[in-house]
Amino acid sequence: MPGVEREPEGAGSARRSLAALLLSMGVSAAFAVAFIVVVGLDPGITFALLAALLVSAASAYRVLFGSPRRAGGITVGRTVMAGALATLVVFGAIQAIPHGRDHTNPPVVSEPAWDSPRTRELAAAACFLCHSNETRWPGYTNVAPVSWALTDHILTARDTFNFSAWEEFPTSARLIEAAIRDGRMPPWNFRLLHPEARLSAAEKEELIAGIRATLGG
Ligand code: HEC
Repeated sequence: MPGVEREPEGAGSARRSLAALLLSMGVSAAFAVAFIVVVGLDPGITFALLAALLVSAASAYRVLFGSPRRAGGITVGRTVMAGALATLVVFGAIQAIPHGRDHTNPPVVSEPAWDSPRTRELAAAACFLCHSNETRWPGYTNVAPVSWALTDHILTARDTFNFSAWEEFPTSARLIEAAIRDGRMPPWNFRLLHPEARLSAAEKEELIAGIRATLGG
C-alpha cells in the first residue's frame, strides 16, 4: 500500500491489549460455564462474582502497574498477575459469608420399607448424598461459592423427596424410574465427581426393580 511502510505507532501495543482483552473474555466465559453448568451455581450469583472479579482485576492492574496508557498498553502477563491477585482477594473475601457453612444433617426419621438391603445400598450410592439426611460433606463443600451451590441443591433435593424423612417427603416409583431412565438422576455433574454413583445398566435395572418392589407400582 503506498504511503504505509511501517506499522503505525502503537500497533504493537494495540495488539498486546487485544490479546489481553481476548484472554480476559476467554477466562470469564470459562468461569461462567464452570460455575453455572458444572457446579450448578445460580447464574445471577455467578455473574455478580464475575463482575466483582473484573472490577477488582482492573483496580489491581492500576495499583500494581500504574496507568496502562502511559505504560504502553495492557500486556497479557500483567493481566494474568492482576487477575490472579483479584481472584485471591475476591475468593478470600467471600469465604467470610456464612451461607452454606452449616453442614449439620437433620436426623434420619423414617425410611421406606426397603424390599432388600441391596436396593438400599444402590440408592445410598447413587441418591443418598442429596435425597437423604445422610449427606457427606467433604472438605471442598466448605469452600464458597461451591458450598453455596451444593447447600441449595441438597436442600431442594431433600424437599423433592427424602429417603430419611420418607413419611413427610415421599415420591413414587414411577417418578424415580423415569428420572433414572432419562439419565437425569443422579445429575451428570455429580456423576463426574462420584464414581460410586455411576450405575451400570444392570445396576439401574436392579435399583428400579427394587424401588418398585419397595414402593409398589
Ligand atoms: C447431586 C444431588 C442429587 C443426587 C445425587 C440425586 N438427585 Fe434427584 N434431584 C436433585 C435435585 C436438586 C432435584 C430437584 C430439582 C430438579 O428436579 O432438578 C432432584 C429431583 C429428583 C426427582 C424429581 C424431579 C424429577 O426430575 O423427576 C426425582 C424423581 C429424583 N431426583 C430422583 C433421584 C434418584 C432416583 C437419584 C439416585 C439414583 C437421585 N435423584 C440422585 C438432586 C440430586
